[in-house]
Amino acid sequence: MSICFVCHESFSFFLLLFKKISRAELFDFHGNVQNFQARPDDILIATYPKAGTTWVSYILDLLYFGQTERQTSTPIFDRVAFLESTISPMGPGLTDDQTYIHTYILPRCYIPIIYVARNAKDNMVSYFHFDRMTRTQPEPGEWSSYIHRFMEGKMVFGSWYDHVNGWWKKKQTHSKLHYMFYEDLSEDTGREIDNLCSFLGLSRSDEEKKRVASGVQFDNMKKDDTTNYSTHCAMDFKISPFMRKGKVGDWKNHFTVAQSQQCDEDYEKKMKNSTLQFRTEI
Ligand code: A3P
Repeated sequence: MSICFVCHESFSFFLLLFKKISRAELFDFHGNVQNFQARPDDILIATYPKAGTTWVSYILDLLYFGQTERQTSTPIFDRVAFLESTISPMGPGLTDDQTYIHTYILPRCYIPIIYVARNAKDNMVSYFHFDRMTRTQPEPGEWSSYIHRFMEGKMVFGSWYDHVNGWWKKKQTHSKLHYMFYEDLSEDTGREIDNLCSFLGLSRSDEEKKRVASGVQFDNMKKDDTTNYSTHCAMDFKISPFMRKGKVGDWKNHFTVAQSQQCDEDYEKKMKNSTLQFRTEI
């Protein structure tokens, strides 16, 4: 039976607290993950934080395990393990350390990877609120300065631009990488579930797929204590819910016209050499 892992890391890994030790030592230090071997039926979910990790995790969880006692008893973050959870990011900033997560996993077993990308501005807004409500994340500060930090890539999980582009490039050479977009999931969850099933070679009846699509609707996940993170001790729900809005285009409620323009200009520069395209209407 398949197990899914979530990995937020980009190919260039951050080492903040542990600058002096290598990735291998770090993993060893935190639980001997160095000896980790993926099984052929494992799946890696890779996302920049706040791009829809929980949503896709739950879709896969339901596709593989169905609606069982597992779903009502165990929070999603325990059902789908975070690979990087042995490491605690302590603050913003990046080094150019060149140790790569795929060096540890992919050569040992060519497992399927599902990557989820979300447009920069919505991703930024969601991350800002997440940083506000999560005790283990650095204080986000003012929104106006947060935008600049995001554009500069000085985030705990590195640059959004490097992340979405790094995995996009990887897709061109890795046939087992399925690159998805939050906006597509939002537009037609059923279609994206179909695509996921094709990619993973899963045959599920229309009825089963419909049940999954309905189970993972925002309102259902928001009221479900196993998917809304309400049992997670690191979050302060008085500040913000984890399942906050779940909308495409919420950035319009946060950016001023000037901030939006500045972000667009910066985006043009950073993405000009990339073939990756997000929906233009966002
Ligand atoms: P918002 O903060 O914009 O609401 P992650 O799981 O990667 O941390 O991403 C969390 C973001 O995905 C949050 O975005 C959350 O509301 C949104 N999300 C989670 N499940 C969703 C669903 N079923 N439909 C739409 N958005 C969802």
